[in-house]
Amino acid sequence: MERVVSGIRSTGNLHLGNYFGAIRNFIKMQENHNCYFFIADYHSLTTHPNPKDLHSNVKQVLVEYLAAGLDPEKATLFIQSDVPEVAELNLLLSMNAYVGELERTASFKEKVRKNPNNVNAGLLTYPVLMAADILIHRATKVPVGKDQEQHLEMCRKYARRFNGMYKTEYFKAPEPWNFGDDLIKIPGLDGSGKMGKSEGNGVYLSDTPKKIRKKVMKAVTDAGPTEPNSLVTEPIQNLFTIMQVVSEPDTLTHFKEAYADCSIRYGDLKKQLADDIIKYIEPIYNRIQEISADEAYLQKVAKLGAEKAKESAQKTIREVREIIGFKKF
Ligand code: TRP
Repeated sequence: MERVVSGIRSTGNLHLGNYFGAIRNFIKMQENHNCYFFIADYHSLTTHPNPKDLHSNVKQVLVEYLAAGLDPEKATLFIQSDVPEVAELNLLLSMNAYVGELERTASFKEKVRKNPNNVNAGLLTYPVLMAADILIHRATKVPVGKDQEQHLEMCRKYARRFNGMYKTEYFKAPEPWNFGDDLIKIPGLDGSGKMGKSEGNGVYLSDTPKKIRKKVMKAVTDAGPTEPNSLVTEPIQNLFTIMQVVSEPDTLTHFKEAYADCSIRYGDLKKQLADDIIKYIEPIYNRIQEISADEAYLQKVAKLGAEKAKESAQKTIREVREIIGFKKF
């Protein structure tokens, strides 16, 4: 089975955009790939989280992924810092990662621009650690969004450089996997653009029904169509797009027709959309509450994941050490 690695940052709750964009594809992938999905808590240190918050950030992400349907029996689900072998590979790979190319990375330049007083070395070498995450399980496919493609390109470069330096074919350069047509972009509720964590326009899997209703009722609309068969404006199309994934097809057809003959009432549209989102999310929402309270289960999941990930990581480290020339006395 092909090996897949993807890292999930432990920042913030999951929203509908994450669910339809990435998680649903992870869930499909775990059926027929050897998947390693991990929570990137080492990576999260670049922004210096408070020690009091670190564990709860990780827990929240773990709980929500499990609730959404990641299966610890099918995929290897683990916490990055439970497998410190990755830190050794990070060190080894950093010896042929050049400072100039790291400084030219788009994400690094953006971080420097946004936070000029926290330009730490971890930020600079972020792509090296990410390459170590991937190569330590010798993954050949990495499901990531557009924003991570440059990092993945660097991972491929480090894999090739390692091979070149040690005259081996040990690492295969991993391919990005962007899901093609399976990728559904979920727009936000603020009239334009996609749903995002920082935009404040999202519906979260952990939102209470009351909160969801409030958010949807406040969604941006427009003055309404005045001519029959007018082109659907962006804010309304956005609500239709969300409806398309959470509602019955008939429901969407009904509102599209009402738009076309100008009889649509946005209050009704939003009420229906809120009901359907709540219904869609309900099983996930309930599982979030259950799993979150079940410390024993979470402990079991983390332990199982760490064991499986360690086994694969230790094998790679052993082999890489041998290739580099380390020998025991
Ligand atoms: N950098 C990724 C992000 O910000 C998270 C990540 C860390 C990752 N290591 C990875 C993704 C390895 C894929 C593979 O979303």
